[in-house]
Amino acid sequence: MANQASPSSAPFLSGRWAGRTVGITGASGALGRALTKALNAEGAWVIALSHSPPPQAQTTTDEAQEWVRWSCGDELQLDSILKRVDVLLLNHGINPGGDQCPATLSKTLEVNALSHWRLIQQFEAIADQDQNRDQPRELWVNTSEAEIQPALSPGYELSKRLLGELVSLRWNNRSATQRQTLRLRKLILGPFRSNLNPIGVLTSAFVSRQVIWQANLGVNLIIVTPNPLTYLLMPLVELIRRVYCRSLRVNNLRDR
Ligand SMILES: NC(=O)c1ccc[n+]([C@@H]2O[C@H](COP(=O)([O-])OP(=O)(O)OC[C@H]3O[C@@H](n4cnc5c(N)ncnc54)[C@H](OP(=O)(O)O)[C@@H]3O)[C@@H](O)[C@H]2O)c1
Repeated sequence: MANQASPSSAPFLSGRWAGRTVGITGASGALGRALTKALNAEGAWVIALSHSPPPQAQTTTDEAQEWVRWSCGDELQLDSILKRVDVLLLNHGINPGGDQCPATLSKTLEVNALSHWRLIQQFEAIADQDQNRDQPRELWVNTSEAEIQPALSPGYELSKRLLGELVSLRWNNRSATQRQTLRLRKLILGPFRSNLNPIGVLTSAFVSRQVIWQANLGVNLIIVTPNPLTYLLMPLVELIRRVYCRSLRVNNLRDR
């Protein structure tokens, strides 16, 4: 960990997000770092959940206050950390490009969809067991515009569509009481520059600021892209999924 302090021992944090603890996966990546910086600026206490070692020295206030190492497959080891988190931001991902061999597809599905799915269920269970909070916990899942648009990477598209549909299913299958314990938000982002996409037209700094701005406005389906079609299609897709899921659902939504 980069720092053993805690949000309560950091009275210097002020801003709209002061007192809130945010866990971010994929924290060492372009968007992970940009979101950390933007959330720090709003006063949040950020816990980086990363496959990478922490930065050598915490030199600026742009860095996460805590750094926790984990690996896909070891999600259960994060349980005690996740219990301390108010907002969990699932953001890790890989892009296999044109590689479509079975081993690459398996890894892409594991990293981009299945590890997210395990963390979603884990965080839902934590939120549902803890109903006496002033503010609901939040779970933000970074899918991608690739959920509904081509991204010149069949494996990436497949994994992001799976993840996006899983989030939509959970959106449409949580009871009213469960929705009060956990707010689910989805990030639909267009191309921004990073290791994963070196030719993205947007910058991660711009995208992160837009994401936080829309979240502060109360938006659940957060879209940041230069592609106007996505702003039309994505809400329509979510509406169709909602009608489809709800009309076919056979299990009653039960509050635990
Ligand atoms: N760039 C774009 O155009 C774009 C567009 C839409 C959506 N997105 C999504 O935004 C998220 C962040 O991407 P980015 O563009 O910021 O890319 P990035 O800079 O490559 O960051 C991705 C991060 O994911 C983690 N990661 C990498 N390989 C992994 C593996 N094998 N297993 C588990 N985690 C791994 C790493 O973080 P740690 O080492 O800290 O774990 C890495 O820094 C991704 O989910 C991506 O799909 C990107």
